[in-house]
Amino acid sequence: MNTDLAIETHNLGRIYTIRNRRERRVRREIVALQDVNLQIPRGELFGLLGPNGAGKTTLIKILTTLLAPTSGWARVAGYDVVREPQKIRPRINMVSGGESSGYGLLTVRENLWMFAQFYGLPSREANRRIEELLRRIGLEDRIHTKSSDLSTGLRQKMNIVRGFLTDPEILFLDEPTLGLDVNAARDVRRFVREWLDVHPDRTVLLTTHYMVEADELCDRVAIINQGQVLACDSPENLKRRLERDALFEIEITSPNGLTGAILEAIPGVRRALLTETNGGARLDLTLVADSALPDVISVLTERSVRVRHLTKREPTLEDVFVELVGKPMAEAEKREDEDEP
Ligand SMILES: Nc1ncnc2c1ncn2[C@@H]1O[C@H](COP(=O)(O)OP(=O)(O)OP(=O)(O)O)[C@@H](O)[C@H]1O
Ligand SMILES: [Mg+2]
Repeated sequence: MNTDLAIETHNLGRIYTIRNRRERRVRREIVALQDVNLQIPRGELFGLLGPNGAGKTTLIKILTTLLAPTSGWARVAGYDVVREPQKIRPRINMVSGGESSGYGLLTVRENLWMFAQFYGLPSREANRRIEELLRRIGLEDRIHTKSSDLSTGLRQKMNIVRGFLTDPEILFLDEPTLGLDVNAARDVRRFVREWLDVHPDRTVLLTTHYMVEADELCDRVAIINQGQVLACDSPENLKRRLERDALFEIEITSPNGLTGAILEAIPGVRRALLTETNGGARLDLTLVADSALPDVISVLTERSVRVRHLTKREPTLEDVFVELVGKPMAEAEKREDEDEP
């Protein structure tokens, strides 16, 4: 057992079995996680990036001992999630985005104070932490506001503070900025980062389907799709795989029957994604080298497609996802919807 690891999983899997209610016969099996192997050292801010239905929440539920795996094993803070959940629970905390927890009639302070009591925190220490954390996340002026009177974003900030209040060894944040506006999301990210700066031995595992969040915030990111971890590395290293490619974003007028497949038939074009926009389309091109660009422009010209704007850009985690999955994350999400019964 490696005690420097906050989280370790070995061939972790989870299958959900959907049974026919009357006959109790298995109607369908959903593989939510498959052979997940992660080693997350203490002190790391680790991100799980993946589309809807990728298995992120399932993994968090297993690691927080709320759900049993159906194969493999997982250790959190050195303890086995199935055999020693009571050792794990006091050491961790979890916050999910979009949750409407809290008692609306109580103020922000009262809500947090009550929660601190559940964890047996001395009252004075609880109050000290509440004030400090509210100040850090920019909510101190709402300390006496009833939580039912808070906007979604402010309530989410209160929930985030709740997660940090017990000073957990390992904190699980499931989509912490889901539905937040840009400023609130930025406040939450800064808060998480600063908390880890002050508590370097603490570990945070967060899930997100925001590429930018994973990129800017996380030390390392696991890209997960359909229950499988496809890549796991620092954002820089993940993007470095694509450095040899030349990436262009081209805004064009109406595509006039042009498709990605037509462009991908041109030598030197590794990938061409066409997205309809208001009154035109955007073309995301991955070329083996800049020198392939003139051939693409010729094909556009043959079809009377005009270029409105052309930029060469640096790789993003979205490109990494496309490289691994073969389609953008938004499309990977659509497929999942179609799968639903
Ligand atoms: N209780 C359940 N019973 C049956 N299937 C489930 C259950 N919970 C999740 N699933 C299925 O398992 C897969 C993974 O779901 P999960 O909620 O872990 O994904 P996620 O990455 O958290 O997605 P999202 O971004 O939408 O939160 C999906 O196909 C989902 O439909
Ligand atoms: Mg989820």
